[in-house]
This record gives sequence, structure tokens and C-alpha cells, in this order.
Amino acid sequence: MAEVIVLRDEEIEGLVTFEETMEMVEKAFADFYQGHSSVFPVVREEIEKHQGIFGVKSGYLAKDEVLGFKAGGFWLNNGQKGLTNHQSTMVLFDPLTGRPKALLGANYITKIRTAALGAIGCKYLARQDSKIITVIGAGLQGRNQLLASLNVLPSIEEIRVYDLNIEYAKMMVKEMNEEIEPSIQAFGDAEEACRGTDVILTTTPSYKFIVKNEWINKGTHLNCIGSDTKGKQEIDPQIFTRAKIVVDNLEQCITIGETQHAYNLGVIDKEDIYAEIGSVVSTGSPVRTNSSEITIFDTTGVTIQDLIVAGKVIEKAESLSKGTKVIV
Ligand SMILES: NC(=O)c1ccc[n+]([C@@H]2O[C@H](COP(=O)([O-])OP(=O)(O)OC[C@H]3O[C@@H](n4cnc5c(N)ncnc54)[C@H](O)[C@@H]3O)[C@@H](O)[C@H]2O)c1
Repeated sequence: MAEVIVLRDEEIEGLVTFEETMEMVEKAFADFYQGHSSVFPVVREEIEKHQGIFGVKSGYLAKDEVLGFKAGGFWLNNGQKGLTNHQSTMVLFDPLTGRPKALLGANYITKIRTAALGAIGCKYLARQDSKIITVIGAGLQGRNQLLASLNVLPSIEEIRVYDLNIEYAKMMVKEMNEEIEPSIQAFGDAEEACRGTDVILTTTPSYKFIVKNEWINKGTHLNCIGSDTKGKQEIDPQIFTRAKIVVDNLEQCITIGETQHAYNLGVIDKEDIYAEIGSVVSTGSPVRTNSSEITIFDTTGVTIQDLIVAGKVIEKAESLSKGTKVIV
């Protein structure tokens, strides 16, 4: 028999702040780069009948002694059922014995860890004097990534939001207008939203690229968040030939990330990828060497992000006597 702590998403919200999560996620990538963590092969498969994508991401953080997995994925039609499209649950185990330790709703963990890594991408790659951000995709990640990037890009004055459905873009603008200072506007045309911008955040589940190479000026940074599955695509592969590329995890990005397309087409090789984010945060040396470089950060989401946050959540929940204990 093992005692397992069960935590609902609502109980987890408020246990970790965005700033703490950014610090934890940077540390997780630095530890991984230095060989202290293991990332096991990712499962990511289509459940065609229900327009879902089911995945399992698992790993082990030796320094923090966190072992476990996150399972779930993306269900395209959940919105019509009043649910978020992204659904995640985590299970943690005692690394010393393999016995189950915790069961967590992981939608909030996914949200905050993805936001943190997006912000880390902008912090290390985007120009610090960036003034305009374009968000492609006005969903959960669009909002999430925008708020995260504003934390690390202090000079932003203008935000442009493009969505396939202009009504979604307008809705996001209306909501966020009250939350943020820079001016924010909905765009019905992707080209108009991208031309002349400084930072592009792509946050859609698209399978066909939206952002074209010829729209991208020198000095632009692109944070590619939406492509996390075979076939998903948001930006023109030709942009990769002009850019300095940083990925969260090389193997994941060439198989399920935005990078898969440029790599599969032979537009770039593995050697053309400048670095993994772990090496960037470990060395702390700037990726961008001048203001005219184009930079890409491709993130697919790595298990170490989920594990580090979940480990801290359990620690805090136990110290505050939160959650429900069950015997399994
Ligand atoms: N990299 C990561 O770690 C990570 C984490 C979470 C989610 N994701 C991925 O991010 C993507 C978005 O997730 P979400 O939860 O925000 O979804 P969502 O359904 O809440 O929002 C997606 C938005 O994109 C819009 N859209 C779809 N196709 C488009 C297109 N071709 N052009 C413009 N807009 C388009 C939709 O209308 C919708 O408003 C998914 O692919 C998801 O799997 C990645």
C-alpha cells in the first residue's frame, strides 16, 4: 500500500508564482544540460475518432529527486463542451522505491510552465528594445504567452493579435485591454499583423504555415509554441535559413516541433541549430550578437518543466496540508 496525495488544478493555482516558475524552469534546463536529468521517449499519437492527440512525457530529475509523467494532450472540439482543449494529468513516483506518490491535475502546471519557457525564450533571444509583439492565435496559449513575454520585454508599446477567427482575436483584445498597458489591436490579416513587428509568438494548432518568410524583417524574434506534434506547422521553413535557432530539446524539436519541417525538407541540418536552451541558460551568454539577427525559439514542452514545478507543488502542498490523501 502507498499513500498518494491528490491535488486538483484549483488547489495548485496559487502554490507557485510565475517568477518562481521561471527560475525553476531555467534551473531544470541547466541541470538537464549538465547531465543531471533524464528525458524518456515521448509518446504523442492521434486519436482520430475524437480529434484528439494523446501524449505521455516522462522523466527523472536526479538533483531534485522527482520521477514521473504527464499524460493527456489536445482535444480540438473541447471548447464546444465547455472544456479547455489542452488536458493534462500528472503522476509522480518515489524514485527510491517506484511507489506512487502523487496524482495532480496538470492543466495549470502546463499553463505556467509553458508561459515560463516562452518568457525565457524572449528574455534570451529577443531584442530588449522590442516595441511590437504579434500574437498568432488568440487562444489559451496566446493569452498566456503574451502576458509572459511582457514580463521580460519592458519596451513593448504595441500588441497585434491575429486569429483565423477574427472574433476570437477581438475577444482576446477586449479581455486583455483591461489587464495590460500597451495598446492592443485585433487583425484580420496575418501579413498586416506580422509586417514590421519585432516579436512573433505563434500559438495555434495549425498544420499549415501561417507566417511567411517575406514578411519577416531583420532583427525579428519568433517564439514558436504551437507546434508540438508531428505535422503541426506555423511558420515558413525558409525562415530557418535566415535565423539563429534555439530549441528546448533537439530530438523533440526535429520530430514534433516547428523545426521538424525545415529539418525534414533538408533546409537545415542538426548542426545548423545554434543551441538548446539548457546551454543558453547555463552559460548565460547572449545568443543575439547584433540587432539585425533573426532568432527562433522552438519549444515543444519538455518533461523536466512539468516535473520541476510538480515537485515544488507537492512540497508546498504538504507543508500547507493541502490536497487529499488516498491509499492505493
Ligand atoms: N509548446 C508547448 O509546450 C505547448 C504547451 C501547450 C500547448 N501547446 C500547443 O499550443 C497550441 C495552442 O494551444 P491552445 O491551448 O492555446 O489552443 P486554443 O484552442 O485555446 O487556441 C488556439 C487558437 O488558434 C486559432 N487558430 C487555429 N488555426 C489557426 C490558423 N491557421 N491561423 C490563425 N489562428 C489559428 C484558433 O482559432 C484558436 O483561437 C496547440 O497546438 C497546443 O498543442 C504547446
